[in-house]
Amino acid sequence: MDYINVALGKGRLAEKGYEIFKKIGYDCSEFEKKSRKLIFENSEKKIRFILVKAQDVPVYVERGAADLGIVGKDTIMEEGRDLYEIADLGFGRCKFAVAAMKGFKLENVRGQLKVASKYPNVATKYFLENGRQIDTIKLNGSVELAPIVGLSDVIVDIVETGGTLKENGLEVIQDMYPVSARLVANKVSFKTKNGKIRGIVEKIKEAVKEDNADD
Ligand code: PRP
Repeated sequence: MDYINVALGKGRLAEKGYEIFKKIGYDCSEFEKKSRKLIFENSEKKIRFILVKAQDVPVYVERGAADLGIVGKDTIMEEGRDLYEIADLGFGRCKFAVAAMKGFKLENVRGQLKVASKYPNVATKYFLENGRQIDTIKLNGSVELAPIVGLSDVIVDIVETGGTLKENGLEVIQDMYPVSARLVANKVSFKTKNGKIRGIVEKIKEAVKEDNADD
């Protein structure tokens, strides 16, 4: 029987993502040991976990290098890949928001608004839908710095506790979209490996329901 390949995004979601698979019987002892390895297998269960950069999970899944993936809704929205979004896993909850220096007023900006973000596609689409053309500045991290040093007027970023904004003198000026971890699937695998994938998907949905009931 074919292996099922699962892409997990390194960082915040990988551990919890793996825990769900473990809970439904697809454990992998190798994954639980600290190492620099990027690929882990359970040959008995015929499952393989690959650890990729979070932003790359959608491309692995779209192209079928992974049958399933666990990734944040933020990355799904930014990447806009062709894949099935199967379930909201209920963890990794945060939100997309527009933030700026305390006291900043959007109405006061004449002309193009300068927006810094790790999520340029999400930012551009959001402001276009709100009838505003923007000058999008793509950054790769530490986005909170941009308004402080005058690189941008506002930022579009994910906000979880709000701690990073607060410690840098910024505040949310508009809530945008809710974000959480999602289970995604390759469209072809979902058909050809249907039996096994469907079984995994159903078990994961059950496990998530139980977890949410415990909260
Ligand atoms: C995210 C985001 C904020 C921070 C928000 O960055 O870009 O900087 O987390 O979290 P908070 O509201 O709980 O403070 P992340 O930690 O993913 O790091 P990165 O900038 O390296 O992607």
